[in-house]
Amino acid sequence: MKIAKKVDQLKPSGIRAFFDLVLNMKDVISLGVGEPDFVTPWGIREKAIYSIEQGYTSYTSNKGMAELRKAIVNFLYHRYGLNYHFDNETLITVGVSEGLDLAVRAILNPGDKVLIPEPCYVSYGPVVELAGGKPVFLKTDIKNEFKLSPKQIEKACTKGVKALMINYPCNPTGASYTKKELREIAKVVKKKNLIVISDEVYDELTYDFDHTPLSSFPGMKDYVIYLNGFSKGYAMTGFRLGWVCGPEKIIAGMTKIHQYTMLCAPIISQMAAVEALRSGLKDVQSMKKEYMRRRRFVVSRLNEIGLDCHMPQGAFYVFPSIKKTKQSSLNFAQDLLKKKKVALVPGVAFGPSVEGYIRISYASSFENLKEAMLRIEQYLAK
Ligand SMILES: Cc1ncc(COP(=O)(O)O)c(C=O)c1O
Repeated sequence: MKIAKKVDQLKPSGIRAFFDLVLNMKDVISLGVGEPDFVTPWGIREKAIYSIEQGYTSYTSNKGMAELRKAIVNFLYHRYGLNYHFDNETLITVGVSEGLDLAVRAILNPGDKVLIPEPCYVSYGPVVELAGGKPVFLKTDIKNEFKLSPKQIEKACTKGVKALMINYPCNPTGASYTKKELREIAKVVKKKNLIVISDEVYDELTYDFDHTPLSSFPGMKDYVIYLNGFSKGYAMTGFRLGWVCGPEKIIAGMTKIHQYTMLCAPIISQMAAVEALRSGLKDVQSMKKEYMRRRRFVVSRLNEIGLDCHMPQGAFYVFPSIKKTKQSSLNFAQDLLKKKKVALVPGVAFGPSVEGYIRISYASSFENLKEAMLRIEQYLAK
């Protein structure tokens, strides 16, 4: 039986391939997987349980429950001054993952090009390819704190470029953009008439300045497909719930695809999400405080033991350089796993030309982080 060429040629996720190895090993400290180590706050879990007890087991509207969409637009208005209509500018998705896929499928014609910063989240290239588009990777590096510059975007806008994918705070580098930096990016986006798919799933985990949604700048609502969700800030990865806000026509297109493929997001998760928004950001902020404590610790330990590491501005990852070791990132990760039983992700998993870096997730207990840093120190000392 033959599978489609496009699928056959697609590389499996570097992260998964690596962590399949880890599954069969004992006593490994895993700093590899990108999800909170906290369980979902109790009030949200309780609401999910209660909604099952009450018999909420049906489909919902394709767009998602109106109550949830209203809660989201209301939250966005008060948090960021965003002004989206709940009924025709908002769609509930099965995580930001589905939002990313729907966005590219809704806007791309075969061969359209999409600018993608590199390193980037593992799904960006593949979803563009599966939608018939062509990823164009724009390199970012430590010299510019792993950020795209407006000039770089403008220069890359050659024939056939239709869209830009951006993610801040960024997985894997933790880089984020200030309001001032985003304002300059917004100018280029308008000048070049780009559609921006803005993945802001880590917005609540921005540490050194306030997060600013790209669509909050005057006139930018018409250019931005704004993606967000509950996975990271609320520690709700298993609920698989996200949302998209954007121009009416694009949301209508994405809803059509969603309706034929996913039908709707799970009702239990939607009810839990209503509770998450109702209960406010107290739990989110206490998790954020703990991530900040770990971030300081991990960055200072890594620099102390000789792996240059910049201070990330958000998410729960650090992205230190391993260039001094003269090993490839895959080699380093495999060897460290074998000799010291610490699992982290080789930089090369985040883009075809990313080398010389590793991603460490600090969504792990302080104890684990302390022990892992010690093991890495011993590994480097040999
Ligand atoms: C940048 C980024 N976007 C999207 C996702 C997927 O999020 P979700 O759980 O909402 O599908 C992740 C998960 O690691 C991520 O890091």
